[in-house]
Amino acid sequence: MTQLTANPNSPLSDKTISHTSTSLNSFAPRLLDWFETNGRHDLPWQQHQTDTPNPYIVWLSEVMLQQTQVTTVLPYFARFMTSFPTVQDLAAAEWDEIAEHWAGLGYYARARNLHKGAKQLVATIDETGDFPQTLTGWEAISGVGPSTAGAIMAMGLHHYGVICDGNVKRVLTRWAAIDGDITKSATTKELWALAERLTPKQHSGLFAQAMMDMGATLCTRRKPACLLCPLQTDCLAHAQSREEEYPVKAKKKPKPSKFSNALLIENTDGEILWLQRPDNGIWGGLWSLPLEFVEKIDGKVSEKITDKNQTATDNKQLDVRSNEKVYEVEFTIAEQIINEWISKNQLIAQSVSSGLLDDAPKPIKHSLTHFHWYLTPQSLTLSAEQTQELTTALQAAEINVNWLNGDDAQATLGLPRAMVKILE
Ligand code: ADE
Ligand code: SF4
Repeated sequence: MTQLTANPNSPLSDKTISHTSTSLNSFAPRLLDWFETNGRHDLPWQQHQTDTPNPYIVWLSEVMLQQTQVTTVLPYFARFMTSFPTVQDLAAAEWDEIAEHWAGLGYYARARNLHKGAKQLVATIDETGDFPQTLTGWEAISGVGPSTAGAIMAMGLHHYGVICDGNVKRVLTRWAAIDGDITKSATTKELWALAERLTPKQHSGLFAQAMMDMGATLCTRRKPACLLCPLQTDCLAHAQSREEEYPVKAKKKPKPSKFSNALLIENTDGEILWLQRPDNGIWGGLWSLPLEFVEKIDGKVSEKITDKNQTATDNKQLDVRSNEKVYEVEFTIAEQIINEWISKNQLIAQSVSSGLLDDAPKPIKHSLTHFHWYLTPQSLTLSAEQTQELTTALQAAEINVNWLNGDDAQATLGLPRAMVKILE
């Protein structure tokens, strides 16, 4: 591994960092030696031992791994590769099929970007005969940020590529005791410059894989295994026993809570109404029960806010209460149609109780990136005539609906995790 030297053309001058040139230059060789004997070499998407790497595999796996751990991704990756062995297969697939394969992985925007990205990649291949070959070419693909693009360049094409994802940032802030807030762009710049300085010109893919392994298996968020670490001798955080203080990140505000009723609208055959969510917004393109956002005031769940003048095209309403607090209520068009139809027909949904003695609604808690969501199932049974009327009203507004019992819905529709929790 002696041919692996650090990148001397990096914009970062060695004088601007706390480490000596010797430390900087020996970083990659030390890391790669460690990786050779202690790293993971059997992950199904790894292309570092392959002479002809497959960029499709690296792109697909990197998107799946963006916010999700290796062990969670493994079975999903296997199913994707079985059903969509090439980027052409993925591009040609129906969205519903992709959603169904993705269901449960979370961060669904990634799945939508994957479908869009597959189509963009096929267009590029049709035009040029190959996958994009440059960093900017990859960054132009939906869902591919600078680090993913660097990973694909390095691991998927065996070209030069630099990664600087969460794992890398943790390792580098510790090794160089970088005190800046990693959510600030100045710190991000500094970290990218350091990553570039450390990435060897040759075998940058091996280096990228080694950095990710280091971050995932040794330099973990809590209790890093410094005694086994090839960077221990000159790790500045370790020298001060301050490993866990890095990376420095501004304290997040606590997540707000939202409260919704999830309507289990049943027909006389025991089937439930499912709506396909609009492409933009939460769970875009997935299937969900109709939801009804409700307000929480003084610890009590109050009636949903209705505004008689509101049109079906508004999907946000502002409500100013006497205590000056402003609440925002959101509905999709389909949900507004259902709400209006329910109130017009003077139907009342019943809370689904889970015990004989306890008929209080039991919300399920589901945490998303920006808020905690408390979903209370409510049931409503319609006559055959009402079922027909509601279905017709929804279809007239070009909304995709499905009447399926819980098991069939789970088996055939892409349902978000929260819906599966409600069904269970
Ligand atoms: N996280 C992101 N990319 C990864 C990879 N290729 N291997 C392991 N963990 C990862
Ligand atoms: Fe991380 Fe510890 Fe290695 Fe420093 S010595 S890079 S804190 S594992």
